[in-house]
Amino acid sequence: MAKGKVLLVLYKGGHHAEEQKRLLGCAENELGIRKFVEDHGYELVTTTDKDGPNSVVEKEIETAEIVITTPFFPAYVSKERIQKAKNLKICITAGVGSDHIDLNAANQKKLTVAEVTGSNVVSVAEHAVMLILNLVRNFVPSHDIALKGTWDIAGAAKDEYDLEDKVIGTVGAGRIGYRILERLVAFNPKKLYYFDYQELPAAAVKKINDASQLFNGRDAILERVEKLEDLVGRCDVVTINCPLHEKTFGLFDKKLIGKMKDGAWLVNTARGAICNAQDVSDALASGKLLGYGGDVWYPQPPPKDHPWLTMKNAHNGGNAMTPHISGTSIDAQERYSAGVKSILESYFSKKYDYRPQDLIVYNGDYATKAYGERK
Ligand code: NAI
Repeated sequence: MAKGKVLLVLYKGGHHAEEQKRLLGCAENELGIRKFVEDHGYELVTTTDKDGPNSVVEKEIETAEIVITTPFFPAYVSKERIQKAKNLKICITAGVGSDHIDLNAANQKKLTVAEVTGSNVVSVAEHAVMLILNLVRNFVPSHDIALKGTWDIAGAAKDEYDLEDKVIGTVGAGRIGYRILERLVAFNPKKLYYFDYQELPAAAVKKINDASQLFNGRDAILERVEKLEDLVGRCDVVTINCPLHEKTFGLFDKKLIGKMKDGAWLVNTARGAICNAQDVSDALASGKLLGYGGDVWYPQPPPKDHPWLTMKNAHNGGNAMTPHISGTSIDAQERYSAGVKSILESYFSKKYDYRPQDLIVYNGDYATKAYGERK
C-alpha cells in the first residue's frame, strides 16, 4: 500500500519523447522522477488529461497528496479542485510561475506551493530578446517571403528596423527582466527603463550602466520609472516580465496600450492573461502596435478562435507567437526536473528544508514579494 499519491500533469511527448530522451518535461519521461517517487513508497499517476469535469486530473486530485504541474501545459488547480482535494499538501510547479494555482485558496488551506525559482530564467530572457529582434527585424514575414521565392525585398524591408538606438522598457525587473536588460546592452539601445515595485540594487544598475559605457560609450542608460503609463509612453519596445496576479490580470488593455507609442512593439513572455487578447489583436490591426511577440497564452492550449492565432498588422506581419516554449528548453527541463526532485526530497524527508526562494505560498501566507506589495 502506497504512502500517498503524486499526481503529475505534463504535456504529451508522442514520438518526440522517443527521438529526444532529454525531453524530460513530457508525460512519457515524467521529469525522470518515477523511480525516485516509488522508492519513497509513493504512487505516481502521470496524465495529460487535465481539463473538464471528466478529466483524470479532476478525479485523481481528490486523493492526491502532491500535485506537480507545469506552466507550459497547466492543470488549473482551481479553488473548487483545492476544496475537494482532501489529502493535498503541496503543489509543485515544474518551472517558474504558479498562477495556474488559486493561491488564495491554497493559502486558506495552508497548502505549500513551491516552484523551481531561477530554473528557466536564462531560457526566457534569451527568448524575449529573440522575440524583440524577431519583431523589430520583421523576421517572420521576411522568412515567408524567402520561402515563397518571390524575392519581394520591399515587402520585407518596409517594416524592418534596427534595434540600435531604440528605447526599451521592462515591466518587472526580477530575474528574467534584469537578464533581458543585461542582454540588450549588446544592441546599443538609446535608453533602458524598468517599472517594478522593487528597486534594483544599486550594483545591478551600475553593472548595466558600466557595460553600456564600456561597449557603447553611453552613460546612465538604465532608469527606473515610477509610473507604468510613463514607461509605456516612452518606449519603442516594451517587454513584460512580471508575474500574473490580481493586479496584472488584463493589465495591457486598450487603455494602457493606447498610451504606448504609435507603432511600438510589445513582447510578453510572462503570462498571456496579463494582456487583453482582443485589445492586443485590435491594436495590431489598427497599427497602434506594429508587432506583438508572445510565448504565453490564456488559457493554454488556446481555443481555436483565440485572436492571437490569426492576428496580423496591416502589412500582414507583426505576429511572433510561440506555444509557451521559452522556459522549456532542453537545458531548462534538466534544471526544473532536478529542482522538483529536490523539493520532493525536502517533503519526503519531512525536513521541509525548501530553498526559501522556491516558496510561493507557505503556512497560510505568501512567501514572496513578487506577487505584489503584500509583504
Ligand atoms: P521574479 O520574481 O524574479 O521577478 C518578478 C518581478 O516582477 C519582481 O521584481 C516583482 O517585484 C515584479 N512585479 C510584480 N508585480 C509587478 C507589477 N504589477 N508591475 C511591475 N513589476 C511587478 O520572477 P522571474 O523569474 O523574473 O519571472 C517573472 C515571470 O515570468 C513569472 O512570474 C512567470 O509568470 C514568467 N515566466 C515565464 C516563463 C515562460 O516559460 N514563458 C518561464 C519563467 C517565468
